[in-house]
Amino acid sequence: MAMFRKKQPVLEYQESTPRSRRLYDRALKVMPGGTTRTSVYFLPYPPYISKGRGCHLWDVDGTRRIDFVNNYTALIVGHAHPQVVRVVREAIARGFAFASPTESEIRLAQIIQERVPSVEQLRFVNSGTEAAMFALRAARAFTGRQKIAKFEGGFHGTYDLTQVSVRTPVEKLGPKESPLSVPEAAGIPQETADQVVVLPFNDQEKVQRILKRHSGQIAALIVEPIPAMAGMIPPRNGFLSFLRDITQREGIVFILDEIITLRVHPGGAQSLYGVKPDLTLMGKIIGGGFPVAAFGGRKEIMGLLDPRSGAPAIPHPGTYNGNPVGMAAGMPP
Ligand SMILES: Cc1ncc(COP(=O)(O)O)c(C=O)c1O
Repeated sequence: MAMFRKKQPVLEYQESTPRSRRLYDRALKVMPGGTTRTSVYFLPYPPYISKGRGCHLWDVDGTRRIDFVNNYTALIVGHAHPQVVRVVREAIARGFAFASPTESEIRLAQIIQERVPSVEQLRFVNSGTEAAMFALRAARAFTGRQKIAKFEGGFHGTYDLTQVSVRTPVEKLGPKESPLSVPEAAGIPQETADQVVVLPFNDQEKVQRILKRHSGQIAALIVEPIPAMAGMIPPRNGFLSFLRDITQREGIVFILDEIITLRVHPGGAQSLYGVKPDLTLMGKIIGGGFPVAAFGGRKEIMGLLDPRSGAPAIPHPGTYNGNPVGMAAGMPP
């Protein structure tokens, strides 16, 4: 019987994407590896996109594809949703960046606060990385402690303190009782990684033991309620409530990274699982697909950013914070 030989998928891809190939060759001359974002690169080269509508993407060679990525979950209503396009057009026409506040930032903050009651106050930033950086800084300032605790495999953006033990090769993980703190990138000093206490997810006994060992030294414990990059692992046996209780007892600021999980419930995963963090990180969907993120929570902690009594303990400038186009895109019409 004659064997039917399927074409190699990579060959098929290359044959159907000559324009992407040419663009990639140009990109190689101006960007390292031809890309400006590690997470969109893959071999032999990524498809270059000409447009997106709803759940579909068209590449520059005219092939239509279903987009299962949706810019890593940021596009909850898909590509170029007509209502988002309309409010963004209207916002741009009014002017798209001011060195002054606009009402739109108050309205988006109020919507978030109504949905996520643990967020008594918040600040807008431009990326989840920034949100994590400021939340950890606030936790350190609030507690006067240096160390932070995070989970093995937990991704919270590209700030040095969170880029520890994210995709650690198995041989470098260390013992289960005390996982090693492994810098994720060249250029992150081991001294920085040593400030990070690494914990195993869903293992109450080991978490308890490790936190006890560092008692009085940990400023913040940061966790994704359902760790996404680690494989969308649901918390088991009340793990998040356990973390809430133990951080409360140990005087540790409990930070929930809801940058992806905010979408699992109108009030985020914290409403779904019934836990109240001290601080929450938000991003992706809150900007309707635009670069908007936020961190917020208890008023006493957020008060460290309050400039009313002179220089705030934590200054927080940022050219694009609360920019009115992103604010408009994030608001349901
Ligand atoms: C859970 C989580 N936290 C933080 C970040 C960092 O966000 P950004 O890429 O906006 O810096 C991401 C990004 O994918 C994320 O998934």
